[in-house]
Amino acid sequence: MFLPVIDKRKPGSIFRQILNQIIQKIESGAIIDGYQMPPSRELARMLGVNRSTVVKVYEELWALGYVESTPGSYTRVRKRVPLAKITIRDEPQDSVGQSDFPAGLLNSDLYIDPAAYLSVSETTGYIDLQRLVPDTRLIDHKLIQQCFRDVINDPETDPFGYCDIRGFVPLRQNILKHMNLHGIHASDENILMTSGSQNALHLVFQALVSKEDIVVVESPTYSMVIPLLRLMRCKVLEVPVEEDGMDTQILERIFKRHKVKLVYCMPTFHNPTGITMTQEKREALLQICEQYQTLIVEDGFEEEMKYFGKVHLPIKSMDRIGNVIYLGSFSKIFAPGMRTGWIIAHPEIIRKLTNLKTTFDLSSNTMSQAILHQFCQRGGYELHIRKLMRVYRKRMKKALKALKKYIPHGKASWNEPLGGFLIWLQIHSIKKDEDMEKRLRETGVSVGLGKSFFYTEQKGKFIRISISASDEETIIEGIRRLGSALQSL
Ligand SMILES: Cc1ncc(COP(=O)(O)O)c(C=O)c1O
Repeated sequence: MFLPVIDKRKPGSIFRQILNQIIQKIESGAIIDGYQMPPSRELARMLGVNRSTVVKVYEELWALGYVESTPGSYTRVRKRVPLAKITIRDEPQDSVGQSDFPAGLLNSDLYIDPAAYLSVSETTGYIDLQRLVPDTRLIDHKLIQQCFRDVINDPETDPFGYCDIRGFVPLRQNILKHMNLHGIHASDENILMTSGSQNALHLVFQALVSKEDIVVVESPTYSMVIPLLRLMRCKVLEVPVEEDGMDTQILERIFKRHKVKLVYCMPTFHNPTGITMTQEKREALLQICEQYQTLIVEDGFEEEMKYFGKVHLPIKSMDRIGNVIYLGSFSKIFAPGMRTGWIIAHPEIIRKLTNLKTTFDLSSNTMSQAILHQFCQRGGYELHIRKLMRVYRKRMKKALKALKKYIPHGKASWNEPLGGFLIWLQIHSIKKDEDMEKRLRETGVSVGLGKSFFYTEQKGKFIRISISASDEETIIEGIRRLGSALQSL
């Protein structure tokens, strides 16, 4: 059996040394598919390290898609699509998707329908289980005040001026560093700052999709991508979301029949279902889109919020040809009012989107970006993420418990998400949405109604609960009210 060699004089942690050596052996074929890894206890003993180090290595190998394991069985090396550039190092990383970019993926026709409009829902007076916005009471206001003061007083920063057209340079650097934690090793030419992910989606569709092009979305999907797609006048095909993510068999059938331009997906904590796509499906989706030279827009809007079990790395981390466009945002993890997000993509795509963004709004908000940079720089962002994880893990547990307690038997079913803010309920007891809307209004709770998440007709009755805006007690009371509304239907 191959045994990693640990050299304590070498820079980098023991964990990294073991991980890198195992990855190297798998990549080179020295450790083959199906190989049964030794039990963690045994490997730890042979290496003379803590068992927890080996467990961490196995977890990381799993997250990177190198091994698979089922409860009670051994960890085995799995057959997989290799990552774009597997360089698990502590030093600065290489860039993603820098290979020759397939020219057919770009399209320059632009179209705007000025008649299109966006709507915002009203929720005042109700227990809010509808809005997908983080609880901004959790923000360290003192720290933000300090960041603001630093920004204003720093002679190097001009927060009142336009910033670089691809975004505030130091914040770009911070985000690139942060994306490394998610297996996305990009460099500066791969990033464009945006005014949130909605702005990013608009830019992507406007720049890369023409009228009549075919776009695939999940069904259900993010509600505000729907008016955008209508605005673009492209043809939309829907692929159902199953318990383990998008149905890739249906996707493949669509690809065999149609020339698809772009697939929009949310593989991690999908909105509205909260579902996380398995590694197998991530690879299948990537493989299909590579084969047909189709763009993937991966919306990582809640990437950080991992509470239970293991969650995979973004599809972008496996991107080899540069066809994956990754969207990130501060909106769900910090505050939507900062209006700050980012796109990680192939430099060709970034160039095109940057030109378009400059035409639209010259630059993103300098002040917000400078404050966020200070926040990251002072370590506030990582701390904030950890704090949110702790708080929302508890809120999610309470919400799931309350659902079991208060939803009358047989009236609804739901699955338990691994993270994020959303729980998707299928309602079994109603014929018309209007009846449910009326009862929910009467009981004083607002939720997301299923119909707003389907491009075409919804199959079944659904509601989306968001635990993002309310505290534990309010969530429990909201779910109790929901239960009583369903009981009376
Ligand atoms: C899936 C998804 N993508 C993108 C967005 C847009 O977020 P923002 O523009 O605030 O970054 C949202 C907002 O709810 C969302 O749920």
